[in-house]
Amino acid sequence: MIRLCVFDAYGTLFDVDAAARAADLQGDLWPQLSADWRRKQLEYTWLRSVAGAHVDFWQVTQDGLDWAMEAAGLDDPDLRSKLLALYRRLDVFPEVPEVLGVLRDQGAGLAILSNGSADMLADAVASAELDGVFDAVLSVDDAGIFKPAKPVYDLVGARFGLAPADVLFISSNGWDICSGAAYGFRTLWVNRAGAPMDRLHGTPEAQARDLRELPDLLGRL
Ligand code: LAC
Repeated sequence: MIRLCVFDAYGTLFDVDAAARAADLQGDLWPQLSADWRRKQLEYTWLRSVAGAHVDFWQVTQDGLDWAMEAAGLDDPDLRSKLLALYRRLDVFPEVPEVLGVLRDQGAGLAILSNGSADMLADAVASAELDGVFDAVLSVDDAGIFKPAKPVYDLVGARFGLAPADVLFISSNGWDICSGAAYGFRTLWVNRAGAPMDRLHGTPEAQARDLRELPDLLGRL
């Protein structure tokens, strides 16, 4: 029986494109800049994990942005500061507040498990007015390595004393949800982008385009 819903943060609850979209860039620059920023941010998490060269997610977020801005030919410290400030208060996807409210009314335990540093996650949760909604906001800061390393997924059991099979893990990131499934979590892939399934070592149990089906799904799983 599922006792706890654990959400990935960036891309699942918080819209990582919201910063570049809101920055009012000239021309049609923002989609490419945002995609490069996200891709490099994630690549740096994996590469640093493999290399044993951990820094926190705020650092890789800045490093990814610096790469993306240089690739776009943008040398603009004010824009850099603006984008980083916007990243600290990303929009949530539109259905998120209502779905979390329904889940809480159903008595579900709710948590976040994210690569984000604790201070980034605190800012994101506060700016989305989600303070008090989650039973715990777990950061990889406490594991010293990024997802999908097993010690990160272990943080859930360590905090809640639950077996992986008691936990529904929810992520929009294909590599994260496949890895969570391989770890033993029950899994819902929120495939917001309509992406192909990642060919990895686990396969998610359920799939949806956004979170709206989650309250019903929880009763069926
Ligand atoms: C997170 C990244 C994977 O929130 O988006 O953990």
